[in-house]
Parts: sequence; C-alpha cells; structure tokens
Amino acid sequence: MPGSDSDPVALQRPPPSLSGAPRHDPGSLRILLTGASAGLGLSIARRLLDTEHRLILTAREASLARFAEAGIEESARVRLRPLDVTDAKQRRRVVGEANADWDGIDVLINNAGVAYRSVVEHVTEADRLAQMDINFRSPMELTRLVLPRMRAQCFGRILNVSSVGGMMAMPTMSAYSASKFALEGASEALWYEVRPWNVRVSLIEPGFINSDGFEKVRWTGLSEASKEAFSDPYYNHYKHMEGFIARVMKRVPSTPDSVARTVVRTVEARRPPLRVPATIDAHLFALLRRMLPRRLYHRLLYASLPHIRQWGPRARIMPPGT
Ligand SMILES: NC(=O)c1ccc[n+]([C@@H]2O[C@H](COP(=O)([O-])OP(=O)(O)OC[C@H]3O[C@@H](n4cnc5c(N)ncnc54)[C@H](OP(=O)(O)O)[C@@H]3O)[C@@H](O)[C@H]2O)c1
Repeated sequence: MPGSDSDPVALQRPPPSLSGAPRHDPGSLRILLTGASAGLGLSIARRLLDTEHRLILTAREASLARFAEAGIEESARVRLRPLDVTDAKQRRRVVGEANADWDGIDVLINNAGVAYRSVVEHVTEADRLAQMDINFRSPMELTRLVLPRMRAQCFGRILNVSSVGGMMAMPTMSAYSASKFALEGASEALWYEVRPWNVRVSLIEPGFINSDGFEKVRWTGLSEASKEAFSDPYYNHYKHMEGFIARVMKRVPSTPDSVARTVVRTVEARRPPLRVPATIDAHLFALLRRMLPRRLYHRLLYASLPHIRQWGPRARIMPPGT
C-alpha cells in the first residue's frame, strides 16, 4: 500500500493570505473528480463539462485514454490527470498542483469505487482491505488533503458517492456495504466538524442504475470459485443474487446520467443536504428504513430475497438450473 498523506506540510497548511477570506465564486467552482473515465464518473464529467466550472478529471493511468475516446480533451478550464486513488503520491501530486495553480479545490467528488461480490466466509483479509482501501480509506485521505484550503477560504463541498449499500446491507455484498457504511459514518462525522467553516458534506446514494455495472463487480478468489461449484453451500446465494441484480439493473429507469444530474445539482446547491438518495429505489429504501420497525424490516427483506427457500441446507435437494 503506498505511503500516507501525513507528511506534505505544504498541502496541509494554506498560505496566510488565504486564511479566513470567503473567495467562492458560485459560477466557477474548482472541482476535482475521481474515477471519471467510466460509468457514473464519466457521466458526471460530461455534465460538468456543460458548466463553467474548472475541472480536474482524474482516472487511473491505464484508463486515461478513455477520455479521448469519449471526446474529452484538456482546455483552459479542464485538466485530465492520472490518479489511482489508492496511491498517496498521486493524490498529493493532483491536490498540490491544484493548490499551486488554482489556489485550491472548492469541490471534491469522491466517485471512484469498486464492488466485491462475496459472502462473508469468502472474503479474506486481503480482499477486505482492498475493498476498504478504494471505497473508504482513499476518499478520506483525499478529503484530508483538500480540507485545509476549504477551511481557509470558508467554502467547500465534499461529495462522497455512497450507495443504497451504505444504508442497508444485502447478502453477498458484505465487504462493499462495510466500505460504504464506513464512508457514511465518517462523512456524517465530518458534516458536523467542518460545517462551521461553511464546508458542506454530502453523501450521494444511488441504488440500482440501469448500466453494465453488474458486469464490473469483482469476485474474491473464493467467491469466484464457489459461484461455479454446485456443491458449494453458497452456490445458490451467488446464483440467485447475481441473477436478481442483473435483472433489476436492466429494468430500472435511473441511468448514470440521471444520477450525474443529481450530483451536479448537489454541487451547485446553496445548502446541499447530507444525504442525497439518487435513484427511485434509494428513496424507497430510505423511507422503508425510517418507517418500519427494524425487526420487521429485516424479516420482510429476508422473505423477499430471490428464491430464499433454495438457500442453505435445502440447496442440496435442488438440481442445478432451478
Ligand atoms: N452502478 C451502480 O449501480 C452503483 C450503485 C450505487 C453506487 N455506485 C457507486 O458509484 C461509484 C461509481 O461506480 P460505477 O457504477 O460508475 O462503477 P464503474 O463503472 O465500475 O466505474 C468505477 C470508476 O472507478 C474507477 N476506479 C476503480 N478503482 C480505482 C482506483 N483505485 N483509483 C481510481 N479510480 C478507480 C474506475 O476506473 P477504471 O475504469 O480505471 O477501473 C471507474 O472509472 C462507485 O463509488 C460505486 O460504488 C454505483
């Protein structure tokens, strides 16, 4: 794992000239976006390109070519930079450049993320750390780098792309949910901490998005093997959850672009809320969690799991293909 972000004093301490002065021009914000080369990140980038804001669109080195494929080029107000969010050196370089050339960042959008699909028993410590590293640790480290300037100018927006998986957990998604729950918890604490400096924190919570996202999930070594092995005790967990998620994602009306629209609206809002459900099912689940007693909620959800009667010991008597 690359080094920590605790050393760059120049990044942590804003120059005295910036201290305390509100310098925010709402028409032209300085925005840093992670994971901009694909999926939701690319849709957010496209929406932001239609605005007047200054942008640093970032992607992993190997994915930078996708910007050209998408017709996105550098210009006076658009920079394209390599950023693997787990790489401390690259994080410092991107934020350091923005501090030197643009006097800081007004808006950080932590979008980059991955989803591991695995039951708890099939998540090794290394898998869990990898999931937490991308979805939780790295956004927090980037946040630490941009906050000093935001506090100094008494303006800032941190948008962390969470998920319905950050408000509720689903079977086979424990590591993903844990990473998004962690992101939600830290963001909620941060919301209180930096509000006195007019730095607002928002959690964008998409649920199912009509996209090829389900094809991009990562399998752990153990879950990859188990989902193909009929004799595995968790075979039906994987089979039915995978089928269910793929079916729903093909049918839902929410698209990467509709979620991106919500993100840009949140960026430009005068008073952005802490939690922003970004798809229809996200609104529904947020409501269910508020309205239903927890016990009933969990029982209902359990009973609604796809082919739940075939999970567990009963799986042995079900032939493959059912
Ligand atoms: N799609 C959904 O249904 C859904 C639902 C809820 C929440 N979300 C959240 O939305 C965000 C975007 O997801 P998505 O659906 O757009 O997924 P996606 O299509 O797989 O895109 C993920 C993006 O993150 C980037 N990324 C992955 N690891 C990275 C790293 N170490 N450093 C920098 N960038 C990295 C990817 O870059 P590469 O192309 O280089 O890998 C890609 O640009 C994630 O935080 C995800 O959890 C998605």
